[in-house]
Order: sequence, then structure tokens, then C-alpha cells
Amino acid sequence: CGIIGYTPIEADRNVLDVVLDGLSDLEYRGYDSAGVAIADSSVSVYKRNGELSELEAAIPDRSPGGDAGIGHTRWSTHGPPTDENAHPHTGCDGSVAVVHNGIIENYRALRADLEAAGHVFESQTDTEVIPHLIEAALDQGADAGTAFRRAIDRLEGSFAVAAVFSDTEGVYAARHQSPLVLGLGDDGYHLASDVPAFLDHTDRVVYLEDGQFAKISPSGVEISDERGTLVDMPVRTVEWDPEEAGKSGYDHYMCKEINEQPRAIRNCLRGRISEIDASVSIDEIGDLARPERIQFVGCGTSYHASRYAARLFRRRGIPATAFYASEYDAGAVPVNEETLVVGVTQSGETADTLSAIRDANRCGAETLAVTNVVGSSASRETDHVMYIRAGPEISVAATKTFASQQVALLLLASTLAGDYSRSLVEALRALPDQIQSILDGSRASEITDVYARSDAYFFIGRGYGASVALEGALKLKEVTYKHAEGFPGGELKHGPLALVGDRTPVFAIVTGESATGKMLSNIKEVEARDAPVIAVTDSPSAVESIVDHVLRIPETHEQLTPILANVQLQLVAYWLAHRLGRSIDKPRNLAKSVTVE
Ligand code: G6P
Repeated sequence: CGIIGYTPIEADRNVLDVVLDGLSDLEYRGYDSAGVAIADSSVSVYKRNGELSELEAAIPDRSPGGDAGIGHTRWSTHGPPTDENAHPHTGCDGSVAVVHNGIIENYRALRADLEAAGHVFESQTDTEVIPHLIEAALDQGADAGTAFRRAIDRLEGSFAVAAVFSDTEGVYAARHQSPLVLGLGDDGYHLASDVPAFLDHTDRVVYLEDGQFAKISPSGVEISDERGTLVDMPVRTVEWDPEEAGKSGYDHYMCKEINEQPRAIRNCLRGRISEIDASVSIDEIGDLARPERIQFVGCGTSYHASRYAARLFRRRGIPATAFYASEYDAGAVPVNEETLVVGVTQSGETADTLSAIRDANRCGAETLAVTNVVGSSASRETDHVMYIRAGPEISVAATKTFASQQVALLLLASTLAGDYSRSLVEALRALPDQIQSILDGSRASEITDVYARSDAYFFIGRGYGASVALEGALKLKEVTYKHAEGFPGGELKHGPLALVGDRTPVFAIVTGESATGKMLSNIKEVEARDAPVIAVTDSPSAVESIVDHVLRIPETHEQLTPILANVQLQLVAYWLAHRLGRSIDKPRNLAKSVTVE
């Protein structure tokens, strides 16, 4: 989602135009609906499901005016994309309008309290509690700033919020674990979730910190801490051009999205693992029981996540199989009411996966979509839906959505099997920081430099590592256009070994059980054919003496090792493609979402 706010110093500026321009600068982040609110003696709100052009067409009067404005592009997390669910949201009397990014975990309880006090809600969003909380405080006599602060104090979760009021100057904002940045222009003050929203107007910015509040008004910028004490924050000058800024300074969306994985995983976990007893619960699928058997269908990267998931379920005593969605044959498998069929699809629109889901529905199976897109076809055509909450992914090659799929499917396995291991939950909690440590210290770039001119690249893994071997090869071939193959280590001797030689580096995932015995034999098999070996491992001491390079991952629960190992392999693919000068975000012949069978 994207947030924007603006207040001009001179009253003759067109607030609406500045806000709409800012929203179009945020379009690249992906959105399904958009809206604006312009405040003066009253607050006017316009919002629409669909493209910005539809919002613009819905605004009757574009003449200059307004004291302050806010805008929002929405990527649905609670409630499907509809006009009502689009931001800004208002209370009952329309004196305040609010835009919000993030998730409010306690919104159900807040909404119940507010409804009991007579507040009427119009949307299914978590956001709508905020204007009602503000309105309740205004009704008790609080001024705008106090009412805003009181409302924010009651929220749990992660959020960036901006609000405008009738008859009150400026825009009020707060940040808690979701980015918010202020822009100091010559003609007015801006705020946004992302610098590109106002980079056409100013390059002088102030990054808010967690827990801080801000007010922008014609008289300037005011920043305060949780207790209301004013604080001075440094003003920085951004040196990105607008094109770079969309990528937050990264050269490519793929790299940005690889680096977003700690945040994506925190979002996926939020509210789903208990602080108290290490139990796991997934609100959306509360009524889903332990199935007799489970089948996963998916394509490409989502198929690899499906393979990983099937193993997780088998390990918990639930028979489970993963199918390429295009090869699924529900009649023959067979499927009945005792079967849960899970469509794993980032976009929720992949034709092969939708077709498999429809087959399963026809055969009477219970169906579940595990997807990133609220309101997508997969979410509408299944009995249940679980969201992976990775945020929009722009690069064609899936990266953060794969990590989030794996985490979501692990939560699903624990929930449906009723198996709550404290060590697993603790490992999940540590996962975002562990991924960050890989991102900070990876040697993938220098190692890929050594092998940039190789003929082909092989990836081997066993057990949980096998699906990552497949994904590592897929990622590398997608973005580098080099030949790459991944397979279970045991399969080497049944064919691929014929291709192995000194110009075919082999990436070996050596983790958990596989760190001993058979995987080490596989490494020796390829080394005997002069292949260079790069081990991705949590046990360097087991392999250091026999391999050429080590890409290290932190120690974790065995079932999480593939998620960490994959981050190293994503970086290998990215840096090799970078070195070869490929079109990384839009590889030739590939599409982000394939809607034909
Ligand atoms: C396309 C993309 C792949 C993706 C696959 C499945 O082929 O290029 O990156 O893995 O579709 O997409 P889905 O949206 O169903 O996860």
C-alpha cells in the first residue's frame, strides 16, 4: 500500500493535484484500489476500486483549493478490493478521514466496542476502527491532535497512519513498524510511505522512527515521541532519481524484494503464533479440521513451495502429495470429501492452478487457496483462503513470496496437525533476523564472479533441501538465461552425473540430517568429475575441507533450513544475472502471472 499527505504553505495550491500525482508515483508498488480526502471546512472523500484513472474520473471538481489532503493506494489485506474497502475511511459524521498501511491486530475487539457504543461501520477493513476511535475522542471534547494520539495509543500491530480533519489545519500522522517519511518542499509539506511519492517536489526528507507522531501544516513540521515530547530529527537530502527511488535505492526490484524478506515474514507470522504457549492459529481458516489426506497444486516457484509443504505434512502423519497444477488429475488421484486440496499461488490467477482447483471442487474435495492477493480468483473459488501477506512483488522472478509461502505452509501444517513445538515456534520468531544476517553477510556476489563463465549450474539437496535445489536452479535459469538443473542428491547417479565436469559448478545444500553421510557422498561423486562445489550449509565444519566455497546459513530448526538456504541461492541467481547484464526484473519470454493453460 502507499500513503501520501500534503499541506501547502500558500492556500492557492491545488492540493488534489499534488496528492493524485503522488499516488501515480506510487503505482509501481502495485495496488487494487485508491482514494483521496481533501480537507477545508469539510472533508471530501473520493475512492474507487480499480485503477487511478477510475478514481480521477469519479472526482467531479478539480479546481484548486483545500487546506490539506491525504491519499492511498491499497493492496488488500482485510476484505476484498471494493469501493467501500478502499481508503480513506471516515467515521460517522465525516469530520475526519484516515489512510493506513499495515495490520491492526486488535481491530476486532476495537470494532466490537465501538459498535456497542453506536458506531456504524461501512467496510470490512481493520483501518475503519481508526476514524471511529478518533471521532469518539472528538465527541468527548478532545482536540484533533489529542484525539488522533488517543486513537493511535489503542492500536496493536504495525501501521503507518495519516489523517485530515475538517476545520483543522494540516495532516496528522503516526508510525509504528511501517515506513513513513516527511518531505520539506518550498511550497508545502509532504508525507508518504515512500520517498518517490513526493520526489518531484522535494529531495529534503525526514525519516520518522517507530513510535513517533508528526503533524505537517502551513507553519511547518512538528515531530513528537510517544509521550508527546517534541523531538528534532535530522533532515537528509535524497540523491536518488525518481526511477531508482521506486526501488528504494536498489538496482532492481528483485534485489529489493530479496531484501524485504525479513519484513515479509514478520507480516506472515504476525498474530499467528502465540506469545504464551507457542501455539499457532490462523484466523482465516479457524473452521478447517485435520484432513484425511492433503494434495497441493502449484506452478513454478509455487510448486516448489508445495513440495516443501507436502513433506512437512507427511512428517506430521498426514498423507500429502504435491502436483504440478498442469498435471493434476483429480479423477485419478483420487479425491473425495476427506481430501483437502490446497492451491498454492502467489498471484491467485495462474490458469493451471485455477483449473486444478476447479477439478478438485468438482470432485467434492475441500479446497484452500494459499495466496498473496486478497480477492484473487483462487481466493474466491476455494472454500477457504490463507494469505501469505508478502506485499506486492514486482519482479517476475518470485523471491519474497516463496519465503512467505514456505512460512505460511509451515504454520498451516502445525495448525492442521495440532503439533505445536516450542522449538519450532522459537525458530520461526528468530527467522527474520537470521535472514537479515544472511543478507548482510552473504558472499554470493564474489563466489558467482568466479563461476560467471561456466557452461551450466547444478543444484542438489536432500529431504527438505530437495525443493530448494529445484527452486535455486529455476531462479538461476529465469534471470541469467544459463542452463541450470536442480534435483535430489540421490538422483545424480541416475543421469545428471553424465553432464558434470569442471565447467559445471554444483551448489550443494548441506543442512540438517543431510549434513552427514549421503550428501557428502554426493559431493565426492561430483568432485571426482572435477566439478567445483559450493556448499550452502549450517555446518561449515562438516564440509569445509572437501568443498571449494561455503555459503553459510545460521543454525535453525531443520524445517526452516530450506528457507535460509534459499536466500543464499536467490543472491547467487541475482548477482550472476547482474554480472551478465540481464534484464533481471523482466526476463525474456516470462510473465509474472500466466493466465493461459
Ligand atoms: C509464472 C511466474 C513464476 C511463478 C508461476 C506461478 O510462471 O513467472 O515466477 O512461480 O507463474 O505463479 P503463482 O502466481 O501461481 O504463484
